[in-house]
Amino acid sequence: MRKKIAAANWKMNLRFEQGVQLLDNLLGRNIQLEDGQLVVFAVPFPYLIMAMEKTKGHKNYFVAAQNCHNKQSGAYTGEVSAEMLQSLGVPFVVLGHSERREYNGETNALLAEKINEALSKGLQPIFCCGEPLQIREEGSQNSYVEKQLQDSLFHLSEEQLKHVVIAYEPIWAIGTGKTATSEQAQEMHLHLRNVLAGKFGEAAADDVSILYGGSVKGSNAKELFSKPDVDGGLVGGASLVADDFTLIIEAIK
Ligand code: PGA
Repeated sequence: MRKKIAAANWKMNLRFEQGVQLLDNLLGRNIQLEDGQLVVFAVPFPYLIMAMEKTKGHKNYFVAAQNCHNKQSGAYTGEVSAEMLQSLGVPFVVLGHSERREYNGETNALLAEKINEALSKGLQPIFCCGEPLQIREEGSQNSYVEKQLQDSLFHLSEEQLKHVVIAYEPIWAIGTGKTATSEQAQEMHLHLRNVLAGKFGEAAADDVSILYGGSVKGSNAKELFSKPDVDGGLVGGASLVADDFTLIIEAIK
Protein backbone atom coordinates (compact mmCIF):
# COMPACT_ATOMS: atom_id res chain seq x y z
CA MET A 1 0.00 0.00 0.00
CA ARG A 2 1.20 3.49 -0.80
CA LYS A 3 2.26 5.36 2.35
CA LYS A 4 2.25 9.03 3.31
CA ILE A 5 5.70 9.96 4.58
CA ALA A 6 7.13 13.03 6.30
CA ALA A 7 10.91 12.54 6.08
CA ALA A 8 13.37 14.85 7.83
CA ASN A 9 16.77 15.22 6.21
CA TRP A 10 19.05 16.77 8.80
CA LYS A 11 22.00 16.77 6.36
CA MET A 12 25.23 17.84 8.12
CA ASN A 13 23.53 19.92 10.78
CA LEU A 14 23.13 19.96 14.58
CA ARG A 15 25.47 19.04 17.37
CA PHE A 16 24.60 15.79 19.15
CA GLU A 17 22.84 17.49 22.06
CA GLN A 18 20.82 19.61 19.65
CA GLY A 19 19.73 16.47 17.80
CA VAL A 20 18.67 14.87 21.09
CA GLN A 21 16.69 17.98 21.99
CA LEU A 22 14.97 18.17 18.62
CA LEU A 23 13.88 14.53 18.76
CA ASP A 24 12.74 14.85 22.38
CA ASN A 25 10.73 17.92 21.44
CA LEU A 26 9.09 16.34 18.38
CA LEU A 27 8.42 12.92 19.88
CA GLY A 28 7.21 14.56 23.11
CA ARG A 29 4.32 16.05 21.15
CA ASN A 30 2.93 12.53 20.77
CA ILE A 31 1.49 13.02 17.32
CA GLN A 32 -0.22 9.70 16.69
CA LEU A 33 0.32 8.17 13.27
CA GLU A 34 -2.20 5.86 11.65
CA ASP A 35 -1.33 2.86 9.51
CA GLY A 36 0.11 4.12 6.26
CA GLN A 37 1.47 7.33 7.82
CA LEU A 38 5.23 7.39 8.48
CA VAL A 39 7.70 9.87 9.91
CA VAL A 40 11.35 9.21 9.08
CA PHE A 41 14.36 11.02 10.54
CA ALA A 42 17.43 10.87 8.27
CA VAL A 43 20.15 11.74 10.74
CA PRO A 44 23.96 11.80 10.52
CA PHE A 45 25.67 8.41 11.06
CA PRO A 46 26.92 9.11 14.62
CA TYR A 47 23.36 9.90 15.73
CA LEU A 48 21.69 6.77 14.34
CA ILE A 49 21.78 4.68 17.52
CA MET A 50 20.47 7.57 19.61
CA ALA A 51 17.66 8.22 17.12
CA MET A 52 16.78 4.50 16.99
CA GLU A 53 16.47 4.44 20.77
CA LYS A 54 14.40 7.63 20.89
CA THR A 55 11.92 6.48 18.25
CA LYS A 56 11.53 3.00 19.73
CA GLY A 57 7.96 2.54 20.91
CA HIS A 58 6.66 5.45 18.81
CA LYS A 59 4.44 3.80 16.24
CA ASN A 60 5.45 4.53 12.65
CA TYR A 61 8.36 6.80 13.57
CA PHE A 62 11.54 5.54 11.89
CA VAL A 63 15.18 6.40 11.32
CA ALA A 64 17.15 6.62 8.08
CA ALA A 65 20.81 6.91 7.22
CA GLN A 66 21.69 9.59 4.67
CA ASN A 67 23.90 7.36 2.55
CA CYS A 68 25.61 3.98 2.35
CA HIS A 69 28.42 2.50 0.27
CA ASN A 70 27.91 0.48 -2.89
CA LYS A 71 30.28 -2.31 -1.81
CA GLN A 72 29.49 -4.87 0.85
CA SER A 73 32.64 -4.44 2.95
CA GLY A 74 36.37 -4.01 2.68
CA ALA A 75 39.13 -1.44 2.48
CA TYR A 76 37.02 1.70 2.10
CA THR A 77 38.23 3.90 4.93
CA GLY A 78 35.61 6.30 6.22
CA GLU A 79 32.69 4.61 4.50
CA VAL A 80 29.57 2.98 5.97
CA SER A 81 28.05 -0.16 4.49
CA ALA A 82 24.43 -1.21 4.14
CA GLU A 83 25.28 -4.25 6.26
CA MET A 84 26.42 -2.00 9.12
CA LEU A 85 23.11 -0.14 8.97
CA GLN A 86 21.24 -3.45 8.84
CA SER A 87 23.13 -4.64 11.91
CA LEU A 88 21.81 -1.60 13.83
CA GLY A 89 18.27 -2.22 12.61
CA VAL A 90 18.12 1.00 10.56
CA PRO A 91 15.18 0.54 8.17
CA PHE A 92 15.71 3.32 5.59
CA VAL A 93 18.59 4.88 3.70
CA VAL A 94 18.53 8.03 1.57
CA LEU A 95 20.37 7.41 -1.71
CA GLY A 96 21.24 9.71 -4.56
CA HIS A 97 20.57 13.03 -2.89
CA SER A 98 21.51 15.80 -5.32
CA GLU A 99 24.14 17.05 -2.91
CA ARG A 100 25.87 13.67 -3.04
CA ARG A 101 25.50 13.55 -6.81
CA GLU A 102 27.10 16.99 -7.04
CA TYR A 103 29.80 16.95 -4.34
CA ASN A 104 30.62 13.24 -4.33
CA GLY A 105 30.24 12.50 -8.01
CA GLU A 106 27.51 9.90 -7.54
CA THR A 107 26.24 8.72 -10.91
CA ASN A 108 23.06 6.90 -11.89
CA ALA A 109 25.13 3.73 -12.40
CA LEU A 110 26.76 3.95 -8.97
CA LEU A 111 23.34 4.54 -7.44
CA ALA A 112 22.02 1.39 -9.10
CA GLU A 113 24.75 -0.49 -7.20
CA LYS A 114 23.90 1.26 -3.94
CA ILE A 115 20.21 0.45 -4.41
CA ASN A 116 21.11 -3.22 -4.91
CA GLU A 117 23.35 -3.29 -1.88
CA ALA A 118 20.74 -1.58 0.32
CA LEU A 119 17.90 -3.85 -0.83
CA SER A 120 20.01 -6.96 -0.40
CA LYS A 121 20.44 -6.00 3.27
CA GLY A 122 16.76 -5.36 3.79
CA LEU A 123 17.06 -1.56 3.83
CA GLN A 124 14.43 0.56 2.12
CA PRO A 125 16.07 3.16 -0.12
CA ILE A 126 14.63 6.66 -0.35
CA PHE A 127 15.87 7.28 -3.87
CA CYS A 128 16.29 10.95 -4.75
CA CYS A 129 15.97 12.34 -8.25
CA GLY A 130 15.44 15.78 -9.71
CA GLU A 131 16.64 18.20 -12.35
CA PRO A 132 18.92 21.26 -12.19
CA LEU A 133 17.58 24.71 -13.06
CA GLN A 134 18.99 24.74 -16.58
CA ILE A 135 17.14 21.55 -17.49
CA ARG A 136 13.91 22.98 -16.09
CA GLU A 137 14.42 26.16 -18.12
CA GLU A 138 14.97 24.10 -21.27
CA GLY A 139 11.76 22.24 -20.50
CA SER A 140 13.42 18.80 -20.60
CA GLN A 141 12.90 17.93 -16.92
CA ASN A 142 10.59 14.99 -17.62
CA SER A 143 13.07 13.05 -19.73
CA TYR A 144 15.97 14.02 -17.42
CA VAL A 145 14.31 12.60 -14.30
CA GLU A 146 12.90 9.65 -16.22
CA LYS A 147 16.47 8.66 -17.14
CA GLN A 148 17.54 8.82 -13.50
CA LEU A 149 14.83 6.26 -12.72
CA GLN A 150 15.65 4.12 -15.74
CA ASP A 151 19.37 3.97 -14.99
CA SER A 152 19.11 3.36 -11.25
CA LEU A 153 15.85 1.45 -10.74
CA PHE A 154 14.74 -0.28 -13.94
CA HIS A 155 16.84 -3.38 -13.29
CA LEU A 156 14.79 -4.13 -10.16
CA SER A 157 12.04 -6.71 -9.93
CA GLU A 158 8.47 -5.68 -9.15
CA GLU A 159 8.96 -7.22 -5.71
CA GLN A 160 12.08 -5.14 -5.05
CA LEU A 161 10.37 -1.94 -6.17
CA LYS A 162 7.88 -2.38 -3.32
CA HIS A 163 10.68 -1.50 -0.90
CA VAL A 164 11.73 1.69 -2.68
CA VAL A 165 10.52 5.19 -1.87
CA ILE A 166 11.16 7.91 -4.45
CA ALA A 167 11.85 11.54 -3.57
CA TYR A 168 11.53 14.05 -6.40
CA GLU A 169 13.68 17.02 -5.47
CA PRO A 170 14.16 19.67 -8.16
CA ILE A 171 17.63 21.04 -7.45
CA TRP A 172 16.53 24.62 -8.04
CA ALA A 173 14.12 24.28 -5.13
CA ILE A 174 16.50 22.77 -2.57
CA GLY A 175 17.47 25.16 0.20
CA THR A 176 16.54 28.11 -2.00
CA GLY A 177 13.16 28.97 -0.54
CA LYS A 178 11.85 28.56 -4.09
CA THR A 179 9.35 25.72 -3.78
CA ALA A 180 7.92 24.05 -6.85
CA THR A 181 4.23 24.81 -7.08
CA SER A 182 1.95 21.98 -6.09
CA GLU A 183 0.95 21.76 -9.79
CA GLN A 184 4.59 21.39 -10.88
CA ALA A 185 5.13 18.71 -8.23
CA GLN A 186 1.96 16.85 -9.20
CA GLU A 187 2.85 16.99 -12.89
CA MET A 188 6.27 15.43 -12.33
CA HIS A 189 5.03 12.87 -9.81
CA LEU A 190 2.34 11.73 -12.20
CA HIS A 191 4.92 11.50 -14.97
CA LEU A 192 7.20 9.38 -12.76
CA ARG A 193 4.34 7.13 -11.75
CA ASN A 194 3.49 6.62 -15.42
CA VAL A 195 7.14 5.84 -16.16
CA LEU A 196 7.11 3.24 -13.37
CA ALA A 197 3.79 1.85 -14.61
CA GLY A 198 5.26 1.40 -18.10
CA LYS A 199 8.05 -0.75 -16.68
CA PHE A 200 6.59 -2.45 -13.61
CA GLY A 201 2.84 -2.34 -14.23
CA GLU A 202 0.09 -0.06 -12.92
CA ALA A 203 -0.45 -1.80 -9.61
CA ALA A 204 3.24 -1.72 -8.67
CA ALA A 205 3.56 1.94 -9.69
CA ASP A 206 0.47 2.84 -7.72
CA ASP A 207 2.05 1.38 -4.57
CA VAL A 208 5.22 3.50 -4.70
CA SER A 209 5.36 6.50 -2.38
CA ILE A 210 6.70 9.52 -4.26
CA LEU A 211 7.80 12.34 -1.96
CA TYR A 212 8.43 15.92 -2.94
CA GLY A 213 11.51 17.76 -1.64
CA GLY A 214 12.72 21.33 -2.05
CA SER A 215 11.82 24.09 0.40
CA VAL A 216 8.91 22.23 1.96
CA LYS A 217 7.77 24.26 4.97
CA GLY A 218 5.05 24.16 7.56
CA SER A 219 3.20 26.75 5.51
CA ASN A 220 3.17 24.91 2.16
CA ALA A 221 3.19 21.21 3.13
CA LYS A 222 -0.56 20.78 3.29
CA GLU A 223 -1.10 22.22 -0.19
CA LEU A 224 1.74 20.13 -1.71
CA PHE A 225 0.65 16.90 -0.02
CA SER A 226 -2.96 17.43 -1.06
CA LYS A 227 -2.04 16.50 -4.64
CA PRO A 228 -2.99 12.93 -5.55
CA ASP A 229 0.52 11.79 -6.51
CA VAL A 230 2.46 13.69 -3.83
CA ASP A 231 2.77 11.23 -0.96
CA GLY A 232 4.63 13.43 1.48
CA GLY A 233 7.95 15.22 1.61
CA LEU A 234 11.68 14.99 2.15
CA VAL A 235 12.45 18.07 4.18
CA GLY A 236 15.77 19.74 4.89
CA GLY A 237 15.81 23.17 6.53
CA ALA A 238 12.31 23.05 7.99
CA SER A 239 12.97 19.65 9.57
CA LEU A 240 15.43 21.31 11.95
CA VAL A 241 12.72 23.52 13.45
CA ALA A 242 10.36 21.60 15.73
CA ASP A 243 7.29 23.78 15.18
CA ASP A 244 7.74 23.74 11.42
CA PHE A 245 8.32 19.99 11.17
CA THR A 246 5.30 19.40 13.40
CA LEU A 247 3.12 21.15 10.83
CA ILE A 248 4.69 18.97 8.13
CA ILE A 249 3.91 15.82 10.12
CA GLU A 250 0.34 17.07 10.58
CA ALA A 251 0.13 17.54 6.82
CA ILE A 252 0.46 13.80 6.10
CA LYS A 253 -2.47 13.06 8.37
P1 PGA B 1 15.26 21.83 1.80
O1 PGA B 1 16.07 20.49 1.46
O2 PGA B 1 13.96 21.41 2.43
O3 PGA B 1 16.13 22.60 2.78
O4 PGA B 1 15.05 22.56 0.52
C1 PGA B 1 15.42 19.36 0.98
C2 PGA B 1 16.42 18.27 0.73
O5 PGA B 1 17.51 18.56 0.21
O6 PGA B 1 16.15 17.09 1.01
